[in-house]
Amino acid sequence: MPVHPLLASRFSPLLFDPEWTVTEEDVDVLLEAARWAPSAGNSQPWAYFVARQGQPEHDRVVQHLARSSARWAPTASLLIVTMAHRYVEDTDWAYSDFADYDLGQSVAHLTLQAHAMELACRQFRAFDLEALTKDLNPGPGWHIVSMIAVGRPAEEPPADRARRTTESLRTAPWD
Ligand SMILES: Cc1cc2nc3c(=O)[nH]c(=O)nc-3n(C[C@H](O)[C@H](O)[C@H](O)COP(=O)(O)O)c2cc1C
Repeated sequence: MPVHPLLASRFSPLLFDPEWTVTEEDVDVLLEAARWAPSAGNSQPWAYFVARQGQPEHDRVVQHLARSSARWAPTASLLIVTMAHRYVEDTDWAYSDFADYDLGQSVAHLTLQAHAMELACRQFRAFDLEALTKDLNPGPGWHIVSMIAVGRPAEEPPADRARRTTESLRTAPWD
């Protein structure tokens, strides 16, 4: 049985339609998908700072992009900063051993929801983490992990997308 077309056709574009607008209702649907992800003990250790193009939040985030992402990310309709609840407030005790893992799964839900809405996401780490953290000042125990550019893709998937084989996944690193 082939992989579901939604999974098979997903890719991370570097070119977005700069004219495409994502509405607040679109954002609500994306976050609704993120919200329903499973997490360890149902801890839901994720938060999303949402910055739509043309809104003040967008300028706030764009200034912290790295030189590489500044070439393409601002043309996406939406930038999202992802955060994980790693520590219990004002301690070094883990809030959850799975905070980043769970955040990633929530982002995967959001990504596929976006694709179902004929949008696309490129997750990225090419930004000044220290400066963005200083600016957004996440609450105690919360850490910025990544950003997601969301928009209407303005390119086709690259022809040469490389992946490890399923055989390789079954033969990796154990005795
Ligand atoms: C956590 C994470 C960080 C990433 N960081 C960057 C980045 O800084 N710059 C970039 O261009 N792409 C980044 N990517 C996108 C990956 O390069 C891309 O997902 C990968 O090459 C597979 O391509 P595909 O998503 O089109 O299948 C990142 C993806 C993830 C999940």
